Amino acid sequence: MLELDRVRAGYGAINVLWDVSMRAQAGELTAIIGPNGAGKTTLLRTIMGLLQVNGGEVRLDGNRLNGTPTWHMADHGVALITEDRLTFRDMSVEENLIMGAYHPSHRAHVKARLEKSYLMFPRLRERRAQLAGLLSGGEAQMLAMARALMSEPRLLIVDEPSLGLAPVIVNEVFETLERLKAGGRTIILVEQNTERAIGIADHVYLMQSGKVVLSQRAREVSLDRVNQLYFAR
Ligand SMILES: Nc1ncnc2c1ncn2[C@@H]1O[C@H](COP(=O)(O)OP(=O)(O)O)[C@@H](O)[C@H]1O
Ligand SMILES: [Mg+2]
Repeated sequence: MLELDRVRAGYGAINVLWDVSMRAQAGELTAIIGPNGAGKTTLLRTIMGLLQVNGGEVRLDGNRLNGTPTWHMADHGVALITEDRLTFRDMSVEENLIMGAYHPSHRAHVKARLEKSYLMFPRLRERRAQLAGLLSGGEAQMLAMARALMSEPRLLIVDEPSLGLAPVIVNEVFETLERLKAGGRTIILVEQNTERAIGIADHVYLMQSGKVVLSQRAREVSLDRVNQLYFAR
């Protein structure tokens, strides 16, 4: 579905990504792992059109995406949940969810999709009238995921969803991702929780210093090898 071909990008004159090639196949969960500063978030920003592509190509279903503005990515069915799980703090949980379906083509489906969200995340139903700014970290992550799903994206991209969460909430996050995958959703997951990410992935990419240093089917990945590459400099 999504393909990157020798992509170079970065911030101003400073290049971060060096000839990154990868693909996310339809119906699969593709995990991108790698240490802090490896360029994972930069890669996601590049896919979303927030950073300029300085070399190579980003393709969605074979069509070149380079330079597509971020606000058009929703039309292409791509949704990103950022590291900071940005929610509208002064709006209620339900208003936040409705914002996820702001696009005119989604408006007719708001009610049905709200119900679907609440079935998937019962906690959000309990908190529907509460201000999003008062949610716990785990609840905010659930809200960010549910809001992204309100647009029924074909490709869901999640940046470090387990970051800073308590272990039991981390379990919930991974269970949710597994359920979404079982439902046929195409997912790109960026994680530092290497073992858990590999556990639910179909394909794994390991990034180090802006490059892909390992690309393997998840079931063939050796954790020893990953750890070796992870801590190599
Ligand atoms: N807004 C920015 N401006 C300049 N450099 C940045 C910015 N964000 C990240 N970087 C640099 O890009 C590199 C990769 O960062 P990032 O993509 O956030 O890594 P990761 O998500 O893998 O931890 C780092 O060296 C970081 O300092
Ligand atoms: Mg990051």
